[in-house]
Formats: sequence, structure tokens, C-alpha cells
Amino acid sequence: MIPTRAWWKEAVVYQIYPISFADSNGDGLGDLNGIYSKLDYLKDVGVDVVWLSPIYPSPLADMGYDISDYRDIDKRYGTLDDWDKLVKGLHDREMKLVMDLVVNHSSDEHEWFIESRSSKINPKRDWYVWRPPKYDEEGNRHPPNNWKSIFQGPAWDYDEATGEYYLHLYVSKQPDLNWENEDVRHAAWDVMRFWLERGCDGFRMDVINKISKVKGLPDAPITIPDEEYQPAGMYYLNGPRVHEFIKELNSNVLSHYDVITVGETPSTYLADEVAKYVLPQNKELNMVFQFELMDIDAFVDPRSGDHIPMIPCDWTLSDLKNIVTKWQVFKREEGFWNAVFIENHDQARSISRFADDSDEWRARSAKLLAMLQITQGGTLYVYQGEEIGMRNFPVDWGLEEYKDVATQNYWNNDTVDMSDVIDGLQRKARDHGRTPMQWNDTTHAGFTTGTPWMRVNDDYKACNAESQTRDETSVLSFWKRAIQVRKARDVLTKIYGDFVELDHLNKAVFAYTRSLGNSSALVLLNFSKSEVEYRVEGIMTDGFKCELSNYASEDSTEYLGSVILKGFEGRVYFRDM
Ligand code: GLC
Ligand code: CA
Repeated sequence: MIPTRAWWKEAVVYQIYPISFADSNGDGLGDLNGIYSKLDYLKDVGVDVVWLSPIYPSPLADMGYDISDYRDIDKRYGTLDDWDKLVKGLHDREMKLVMDLVVNHSSDEHEWFIESRSSKINPKRDWYVWRPPKYDEEGNRHPPNNWKSIFQGPAWDYDEATGEYYLHLYVSKQPDLNWENEDVRHAAWDVMRFWLERGCDGFRMDVINKISKVKGLPDAPITIPDEEYQPAGMYYLNGPRVHEFIKELNSNVLSHYDVITVGETPSTYLADEVAKYVLPQNKELNMVFQFELMDIDAFVDPRSGDHIPMIPCDWTLSDLKNIVTKWQVFKREEGFWNAVFIENHDQARSISRFADDSDEWRARSAKLLAMLQITQGGTLYVYQGEEIGMRNFPVDWGLEEYKDVATQNYWNNDTVDMSDVIDGLQRKARDHGRTPMQWNDTTHAGFTTGTPWMRVNDDYKACNAESQTRDETSVLSFWKRAIQVRKARDVLTKIYGDFVELDHLNKAVFAYTRSLGNSSALVLLNFSKSEVEYRVEGIMTDGFKCELSNYASEDSTEYLGSVILKGFEGRVYFRDM
């Protein structure tokens, strides 16, 4: 069955992390006018949709994922007028805008929470999750249950004023909203309507799989006996009412607009669980970010089964093939749709994780990973800087360069071995994806004329957008070409060619075909530094022509059954019968 076409399926989405993208006024923080000044650049890359990480007023306890006003723009980023101008600039260029909707929690500085904490009888008391303390036999006060938060100790904070605890799955400045309360749900819909009416074209929904908690908030089973607080995902991930809540926001709000929606569903590894959010007949979301590939190098704590991203573990190409293939073929007949991504603001840089970011190999690696992505079925998401092959910052940067609250809290957690901690941060900290965008080779990479809020990666003279724009062989030029190829070829994207993996046991090469009607693509990706000879068994190989490769002009090369692939070489062939 050929799935139905939709603009949001064919789109290339570009994620901007506003504080690190472009600073227009020299205060060291990226802003909306900075983004505005780069619209032609984005258009030229081939971007159709821009997704902005949060730009609302925020104390920035978690870099904007802690919102203190859902209907305004943080002064540091600009004004609502600047936002209107940005939307117009995008629409004039036939691009669209996606906003980040963060409604599992707000900031503790949001007016709603300030009211809620003010007294037990305040009408907004029930908008958050408040519970009385528990006392042990000696009369010591404890949180209402033993849940552990995601970035910081217990998931509860005690509020002296009213003598109760409030729930926060993330840091204490991010109290969880109580979705059981109907007024909260209506308030979330109103926020969505506010932005849609103003011209926004869709939402990325932050940790949307955590909005429904199990009734009674029971204690989590003790899986880590030497700790007081326990992983409690089983009581808040994909909870009992989550699908009801999402269906409700779809029918009340989303279905009235022509929008793109993508939910973030971390820590959800059962494909059938993921499918519920996405299958069209469920009328929930267009697609979700599932994290199976992102967690490929995360240690799994055998006690709780939780993935710990900051403790890196080894992975093999066969793991990667399994994950990609699984999702490429998953429930296609039923209309399941993928979000294809390999980076975002919560991840270290992809060439540093999945290939080789040394000076010698970085460009080839970046192009190889571009090919891996543009040849997959699904909506394509590119993260700022990925298109120029930005990499992790150097290992010799001190801890003071790591700004993320998750990093800081992880560092300050005394239950883990420090040498492992440092290794983990150098490889996996979210900070690596948050260094300022590298625009040119002037001071601070042209990101700001002032002092950047976060240090610019030292390699900006060798790696920046301006020099890559001029260089036809650059990573940036390759991405542009790759996106053009993807858009020109229905077999790759528009109408969802079938995905068939080849030669699964090959330890160096990831090979697959995509086919649709009489057209096929053959994709060969060598994930090793060594040259390998590759033979395709079992498929008719005549007539395949190479259209994309990260080595010099292979364009007209025909595929003749066997090929020598150089280190990290990738090739994309096409055949039309
Ligand atoms: C999402 C965001 C991440 C944030 C978290 C809590 O995972 O992507 O940056 O820390 O939610 O809001
Ligand atoms: Ca600024």
C-alpha cells in the first residue's frame, strides 16, 4: 500500500536552538532577529519548516524548557512583534514555523504555580500535583512517594508555606502540571490556539508521553536498594490517560488547523506503545521522536532497565542496522510515520558518536550520516550545525564550559565514580549540541559581537557556514545536494519506497534498497575506516547509477555488482526501469 501524501511528510525540518543560533544585538544570546537574518541561508539549505526550541519567558533553569509565560517571548529573544516578523519572513519564503509546546510542566515562576503554591484553597491549587508529606516512625518528614526525578534527587519538593510537596519529574523549578484537572487541559489548548491563530504551523510536544501519571502515585518498586529515590517510569511513562488527553487536544484544537505535530516520547522502547501515538486512525499526532537510536550508546542499568545516556556503552553496526530497519518497515501498511533524526539539543554531536570526528574523517563522516538520513522514509529533522558537520567540543575543556543543569547535577551527584563521570560528559553531555552556531571565521564564529553565553567550539575557523558555502566539496554543499536528491526522488521520500535491508551480517557496510513501482535506490554506507569490497547478493544490479557519494565525482558510475568502498564512503544509486 502506498501511504497518502502530506506536506508534513515531505518536509525537511530544521531545529533551531535559539540561544545559540545567531545574536543580533551583541548581548551574547541568540535571538529572533538573529534567526530572521538567517532565513535565506535556511531556504538555501533546503529547509521547509523551522522548529524553534522554547523562546517564551523563562528563568532558564532548563534553558527554556521551564516556561513562566506561555503567551509571550522572553525579552532576551525579542518581542511578539519580532515573532510576527519572523513568521512572515518564513511564510514569504514558503517555509513554516513549529513551536515547542512544553506542557508536562511549567516553570515554578509561572503565575499559575505562584497562585497554586499560595494556599491550599487557591483555585489553581489542583493545577499542579500537591501531596502531604509522609512521616516515618521517628517523625521524620519524607516526600509522598519514593520517585526519583530525572535530573535531580527526589521528584518532590517541600513547600514550607502550605506544608505540602509538589511533584517535579525534572528539576524543582519545573513543577508538573496536573493533567487530571480539566482546566489545565483547557489552558493547554488555549495556549495552542493562541500560537496557531498568530500564524504558527505546528508543535513539537515536549515529553508528551509523561503527562498522565498512574492514579494514587504509588511507590516505585525498589530496584536500586542503596538509594532512597527510585526510578518510577512505570508510573508516568505512557500513563493510563495519555492517549485520551492527546486525542482530546487533537479533536479540540489540532484537527481545526493544517499543522505538523511531533511528540517527544523518550524512554519508550515498545514499538506498539510508540505506534499508538502515531497511527492515523488514532487521531493523535503525525509522528513522534522515539529514542531507540539515540540510546544505542547508553548504558542500561540492569537493576531498573533504565538507559543512562551519560554512561556511554559500546554498540555495533548491527545494532544500528537493527534499529533503523525496524522502524523503516514498522507498520507501514497501517500508516505509521517516522521522524528521522540523529541530533537535537539533548544529544552530543552525531559525527562524534556514530562515525569519526577527527580532522581527517569529519567531513566524510558528516556526509555519510547525511546519506543515512536522507535515504530513510519519514520526515527529516536536521539540527542546527549538523549541516556543517559540527562536532563535540574538545575533551580538555573544563567543567565550567558545561552549562546544562543536567550535566551540573550529574557532576554533583556523589554516588558515581568521578573518572567515569568525566568520560561520560566528554562524550555524551547535552552541552556538545548547544555550543553557538559557527557562521564564519571571525571572533566567536560570527555568532555574536559580544561575549557568547557559551564558549564557541575552538574549531570554527576550519568549520563554519560561510567558508562551506563557497566550497562545493563541503559538508554544507553536500547536505544541500542530498536534500535536493531526496526531494526529487519519490522513491526516497515523497512516496515512501519500500525499505529492504541487504546483507545484514556485514560488519562494515549498511546496505539497503528503497523501491517504489519501477524505481529503486540502492544505498551503501561503509561505517568503517577501512576500504571494503562490497558485493550485492540477490538483487538485480543492472542499471544502477550513482547520484550521491562522499568521494569525488562518482556521479555517472554504474553499479556493476561489486564495488570498492573507501573509508566511510557512502553511495546512493538510483535505477528507473
Ligand atoms: C525534553 C527536552 C529537554 C528538557 C526536558 C524537560 O526532553 O528536549 O531539553 O530538558 O524535556 O523539559
Ligand atoms: Ca541577543
